[in-house]
Amino acid sequence: MIINWEEKYSVKVQELDDHHKQLVNLMNELYEAIKSGNSTTEISVILDKLIDYTKFHFSSEEKFMIKCGYPGYDKHKSAHEQFVNKILEYQIEFKEGNLLLGMDVMNFLIKWLIRHISIEDKKYGIYFALNRDPAIAN
Ligand SMILES: [Fe+2]
Repeated sequence: MIINWEEKYSVKVQELDDHHKQLVNLMNELYEAIKSGNSTTEISVILDKLIDYTKFHFSSEEKFMIKCGYPGYDKHKSAHEQFVNKILEYQIEFKEGNLLLGMDVMNFLIKWLIRHISIEDKKYGIYFALNRDPAIAN
């Protein structure tokens, strides 16, 4: 395990915290597979899973931000798009054999996620807490 979800990462929205925990799990799974020297096929399966889950999570977050009328939506969405493009690029390069998925890639993924949750995701969390609409779940 290289990262743990901690209470300090909470965005105070249960569903989205759960998603973040799952993303952390998948990143740890990828890390373990790389560290153990698993085959490209095995690593690809985890990478695909991580990418699918990331897309699902980002789209849930985006829907949530729209529902809350969050003013930072456009900027946040474009940060998501940039990250997805980056990991899709890694996926293609890795599957074509042009990229060795190593600790530098892992570091990039983890650092990005933790930074994004701690800074950008927390902003919508605070906005939501201050402008809480009882019609929105949580
Ligand atoms: Fe986000």
